Amino acid sequence: MSVLVTGAAGFIGMHVARALLERGEAVVGLDNLNSYYDPALKHARLATLEGQQGFAFHAAELAERDEVFRVFAAHPEIDRVVHLAAQAGVRYSLENPYAYVRSNVLGHLVMMEACRVRTGLKHFVYASSSSVYGGNTKLPFAPEDRVDAPVSLYAATKRADELMSSCYAHLYGLPSTGLRFFTVYGPWGRPDMSPWLFAEAVLTGRPIRVFNQGRMKRDFTYIDDVVAGVLAALDRPPAAEETGRPHRLYNLGNRRAEPLLDFIAAIERACGRTAEKILEPMQPGDVEATWADISASQRDLGYAPSTRIEQGIPKFVAWFRDYTGL
Ligand SMILES: NC(=O)c1ccc[n+]([C@@H]2O[C@H](COP(=O)([O-])OP(=O)(O)OC[C@H]3O[C@@H](n4cnc5c(N)ncnc54)[C@H](O)[C@@H]3O)[C@@H](O)[C@H]2O)c1
Repeated sequence: MSVLVTGAAGFIGMHVARALLERGEAVVGLDNLNSYYDPALKHARLATLEGQQGFAFHAAELAERDEVFRVFAAHPEIDRVVHLAAQAGVRYSLENPYAYVRSNVLGHLVMMEACRVRTGLKHFVYASSSSVYGGNTKLPFAPEDRVDAPVSLYAATKRADELMSSCYAHLYGLPSTGLRFFTVYGPWGRPDMSPWLFAEAVLTGRPIRVFNQGRMKRDFTYIDDVVAGVLAALDRPPAAEETGRPHRLYNLGNRRAEPLLDFIAAIERACGRTAEKILEPMQPGDVEATWADISASQRDLGYAPSTRIEQGIPKFVAWFRDYTGL
């Protein structure tokens, strides 16, 4: 028995792989180590996994069917999949839309096909995103809300993943769970995301660009809470009789919409400095607020996020300073 974790050199993937290894599971990691952001960070994350008992890694490209199928063939023991590899980031999807369709749509299909033909596959868990809620004004966002008006191509590819997975659950009975993550932050986080950009600006004395004149709210979710949610979901494959098809969607957020300026203030406190803020207009593709209704994940998964930003940000900043030397 083992778990394939795609995106294992990524932020969430590394933490999920580590948590699975810690509870004694065998983990096969897959990642193409691409240069969307500095691959040195991906190698450094991988270095924390390599050498651990029960861990194997394959550099492979999701969109190349043969590469993915080779990984499955090399590991007949894989019986569950946590599919986190994707082209992430909202803003970059305006610059390089093709990367999103290749990794997130074609890549998702390849993963579903590999799972479909794997006899005895127990559960396919995959990453979706709060961005599927688009510009919805009903807050908090709930999994049963309509999500047919994405405001970025990234969001559209994530919604496509949900629909494709629902279809495979219907056609082939592939037990699948999609997890809509809400702005995940913490040690080993992503350099293109706001916590990293803000901490870097504060510590190097550069101004912070604050979009939508600071009138933004985000449900920031600490990595340890997200990892607990992913593992809880993995352990509970959906049964077909619940919904007519074995596919479910959950929000993994922190059920709080934090004003962005409060989040920046918490980073400043953790860094012991303040930064000049440059207020800028809303960016295309961005949304003003995210806020997760997590009642379904609490009820079905026992998901119980407990980390407030006052606790999570100092942990992120401590790691950031150590990693970057700033
Ligand atoms: N971090 C967040 O706040 C957040 C929020 C919502 C959704 N998500 C989703 O969660 C998942 C993990 O996000 P993350 O923050 O860890 O991102 P990440 O970029 O750190 O990790 C993704 C990993 O996937 C790999 N990858 C990308 N395309 C690939 C391909 N075609 N073939 C093989 N490997 C590929 C990358 O090299 C990277 O290491 C993604 O699906 C992302 O869309 C993340």
